[in-house]
Amino acid sequence: MLYTKKMKTFFTILLSIFLTYLISVPSPVIAWGEEGHETVGQIAQNFLQPDIARKVANLFQDKSFGGKLPLATLWADDVKKKKGSPFAFWSAPLHFIDTLDDPGKSCSVNMERDCPDARCIVGAIANYTTQLDCTNGYDKFTRDFALRFLAHFIGDITQPLHVSGREKGGNGETVTFDGRRGNLHSIWDTQMVEKRLRDFGSDIVQYSNFLTKEIQSGKYASEKDSWVSCISSPKAATLCPLTWAIDTNAINCPFVWSVDKKPGVDLGGDYYQAAVPIIDKQIAKGGYRLGVLLNSILSKNC
Ligand code: ADE
Ligand code: ZN
Ligand code: ZN
Repeated sequence: MLYTKKMKTFFTILLSIFLTYLISVPSPVIAWGEEGHETVGQIAQNFLQPDIARKVANLFQDKSFGGKLPLATLWADDVKKKKGSPFAFWSAPLHFIDTLDDPGKSCSVNMERDCPDARCIVGAIANYTTQLDCTNGYDKFTRDFALRFLAHFIGDITQPLHVSGREKGGNGETVTFDGRRGNLHSIWDTQMVEKRLRDFGSDIVQYSNFLTKEIQSGKYASEKDSWVSCISSPKAATLCPLTWAIDTNAINCPFVWSVDKKPGVDLGGDYYQAAVPIIDKQIAKGGYRLGVLLNSILSKNC
């Protein structure tokens, strides 16, 4: 009897150690890896007008963000991964849109076909843009969460495989990158961004400042207005995410899915070299769009 009681205590302790381990061990990163999202947040922060930066800081109830966008961009992935989080289950389909990509024929976005009940990244950006706008009367908690989701999804929508339904956005496509096996989606989310960041000493601020300068006065200066032209439309909330999804999807047929033509080739070589200008530009677009959109929505006084 005494023995069974001891055993029971022993197993209870063992179980609680195991459970503590389960909830404390971080899960693998999904969606532009953390670096991609933080860079988008940092570039956006560089473009915020001072009064808008103050409004952003006041909206965030979670003080661990330091009142700024870079760390806030990671929140939507954190809650998606957290078991038992009220956001985990229903927010997962909001990180992507499964478009029809048939590289030999065409790649395209069609809202009726690819975004049923607006439950995809295009619908999510539209809804959260509306919720953040103070003229629509949402409470401060709703607006805080809307800002966190927007800061993340405006990054995701520039990642080509978040705008592709082929092979579950590349999650089902096994590839090799710098000698390691992985899937095409995570190569785009994480491995290629990490490799590119190494050119900047793996320093997100350095990489963000480089891209910020390219937007302001470098190689993106002449096209940056076209990245954000939808924002001045009265229909910005719905027009922008659809425009941005179509813009990103256009990369898939000519480039992203060219991997199908070279099975077994290590993507850390020529493919990566050709991807660098695309990665730079997509991350720059995400950051600039987020900054300009927030300057626009949050300029309203309620
Ligand atoms: N699951 C299914 N399609 C996906 C996509 N395009 N991106 C991320 N996860 C997905
Ligand atoms: Zn995501
Ligand atoms: Zn992803």
